[in-house]
Amino acid sequence: AETAARATVRADQPGAQIHRDVFGQFMEHLGTGIYGGIWVGERSSIPNIRGYRRDVVEALRAIEVPMVRWPGGCFADEYHWRDGIGPRARRPVKVNTNWGGVNEDNSFGTHEFMGFAELIGARTYVSANVGSGTPAETSQWVEYLTAPRDSTMLARERAENGHPEPWTVNYLGIGNELWGCGGNMRAEYASDLTNRFITFAKAGRDHGPMLKIASGPSDANYEWTETMMRLSAKHIDGLALHFYTRPRDAVWEDKGAALGFPEREWATTIEHTLQMDEYVTKHSAIMDRYDPEKRVMLAVDEWGTWYDPAPGSNPGFLQQQNSLRDAMVAALNIHIFSRHAERVKMAAIAQMVNVLQAMLLTDGPRMVRTPTYWVFDLYKPWQGATSLPVTLESPWYHRDEVAVPAISVSAVRDRTGAVHVALVNVDPNRAHPISVDLQGLQAQAASGRIITAAAMDAHNSFDAPEVVQPAAFDGASLSGSTLSATLPAKSIVVLKLQ
Ligand code: AHR
Repeated sequence: AETAARATVRADQPGAQIHRDVFGQFMEHLGTGIYGGIWVGERSSIPNIRGYRRDVVEALRAIEVPMVRWPGGCFADEYHWRDGIGPRARRPVKVNTNWGGVNEDNSFGTHEFMGFAELIGARTYVSANVGSGTPAETSQWVEYLTAPRDSTMLARERAENGHPEPWTVNYLGIGNELWGCGGNMRAEYASDLTNRFITFAKAGRDHGPMLKIASGPSDANYEWTETMMRLSAKHIDGLALHFYTRPRDAVWEDKGAALGFPEREWATTIEHTLQMDEYVTKHSAIMDRYDPEKRVMLAVDEWGTWYDPAPGSNPGFLQQQNSLRDAMVAALNIHIFSRHAERVKMAAIAQMVNVLQAMLLTDGPRMVRTPTYWVFDLYKPWQGATSLPVTLESPWYHRDEVAVPAISVSAVRDRTGAVHVALVNVDPNRAHPISVDLQGLQAQAASGRIITAAAMDAHNSFDAPEVVQPAAFDGASLSGSTLSATLPAKSIVVLKLQ
């Protein structure tokens, strides 16, 4: 007989705190991720707040984006910060060699980014140019950003450009993918450069912590982690991990389509994204050897789905639709990060608007919220909450050669003391009943919301923007300390217990 889904939540044995910044986002100078998607300029006919799209700002504020990473990505290691300050008309026009070969007019620069982060209420993650820049350039950028008012020449230049007060830089990225687009380096060389750049990147007086995030591995590159930890652990505060989910992961050129995919690719996508758990576990185990106190965080600062480009789009713009399948990927990764909260203290989904697994898609004046956006909305209580240990027996979902657990469960206690339980059923064909034993918790009622749809690739388009969105879920009941529910096929249910 098939295993019925049974879980135990240990509310009496709370785990680590899930850092808010695990729900961070990534915005790069790439396609319409910034130009058109976030920044339209003050003179645009698209409603804007000092040049930032009003609809996008309001939508992002509603999901409480805690942290935002900029300017790249691969773009960061070709970016020279001086190109993006001062009067916009005088900023140099360059070519974005990484992404589509289009002109980059630098109208979005340091002031625009810091202003945007402030507007959406997010902490800041600035990635420095290690690949083609110098330690002096980075240290001057940090000085420009953080030196106290009226203190140095660069602080005065910042004031002349409209911002007398220093900003707060919460994270400083020391290059990006230094093993690849950031300079094709060996890990030993990248470690030495990382230590050198960090030595001279000093935040201004009175500035709080500016955590240094080293360029880390992608996927299963454990040698990179080993070397960076051996040579740089005492200088860095975090090591980045990048992992992209692809339905077909054999060759990079053939990733699979965002929509209209066969069920087999639903299954392979789920299977591939669950590898995040293995990567986080194994990289963390290496980090544990050099940093048993877990001072250095694993920062998963690029994650999400990467499909073939949308038909008819510039392939360098990484545009893709976002469906119920992406919502599953988002929820499963949030569960993984929550389980590893002791080591994963920051993450950034790639990317925030119009690029890869985006929260929002825009087209001229129109904007649509994606299924992924709604997942971030449902999981807001996870930000800063205490992770509660979960054990789970799950039935399996089989398709062709793929077999994955049908159910995933995550539970937290939020800052007000309320417990929230997330129940995900990745099986696209069958509903699954689940019972959850809530140990150490007295609750009378469970209520919440569900994300589901009839089709695996159900999505929100500009013409039909509300196909996938949360609905009230009243299918959960509580009896003593047992929570019971039947999870519809391909659904994400998030409940608050009271
Ligand atoms: O997110 C798109 C790109 O993917 C980033 O620029 C790079 O860091 C990664 O390879």
